[in-house]
Amino acid sequence: QRHVSKQQYLHGKKILISAGPTRETVDPVRFFSNRSSGKMGFALAEAAANLGAEVTLVSGPVSLQTNHPNINRIDITSAQEMYDEITSRFDHQDIVIKSAAVADYRPKFMHQGKMKKKDRDYTIEMERTKDILATLGEQKRHQFLVGFAAETDTPIEYGLGKLDRKNLDAIVVNDISSDGAGFEGDTNIVTYINKKKQQKSIHQATKSDIAYQLFELISQDLKDDDR
Ligand code: CTP
Ligand code: CA
Repeated sequence: QRHVSKQQYLHGKKILISAGPTRETVDPVRFFSNRSSGKMGFALAEAAANLGAEVTLVSGPVSLQTNHPNINRIDITSAQEMYDEITSRFDHQDIVIKSAAVADYRPKFMHQGKMKKKDRDYTIEMERTKDILATLGEQKRHQFLVGFAAETDTPIEYGLGKLDRKNLDAIVVNDISSDGAGFEGDTNIVTYINKKKQQKSIHQATKSDIAYQLFELISQDLKDDDR
């Protein structure tokens, strides 16, 4: 029985996870998006559910499925929709992990009809979206807040900056320029950094393996925080 309870060490915890890309509409047939597959976020959701947590998974458009009874999946399209679904659920959560690749910009104007091409070049004016994670960092009370950062240059440095700037409890940094890491693959290579700036490198492993290792690190930090 001890074995079973150890495997369910997230039992009773409410965990909110965001996954996948967002899509920012240009017109009825076009959008801006990014390469996120959602695999890391879904792996986190599955791992948390298997460890006994009650999981809410807010996902952008991905071609992945979940059928775990502990996962409540909410599908969204745009950064604004993700903002609404995440911020309205934030109060009730114990752990929030933002692995989604949220668009930083969206077209300033949405065309109702399909845009027709002209001979001349065309410029689309873009405006900033809201930073969901930074908003959660400001509103945070008891929640353990984890961000992700996918970087190509000096990942740790940028990661540390985001950890501080967004008031996070931890950040998972991933160097998308190295083989075996990043968006579309089944494996990843990450570094977990907590707010004491303790770094833990996780070697190349499946996204599922990495998800379990991340929850061990998060639970350890939660225990040390003594909340
Ligand atoms: N994030 C968010 N809302 C946004 C943009 C980013 O919640 N509008 C979150 C991501 O989900 C991720 C973290 O912030 O957990 C870091 O995202 P990232 O794109 O690496 O950082 P940015 O602050 O957007 O900076 P930049 O893109 O310039 O590196
Ligand atoms: Ca960004």
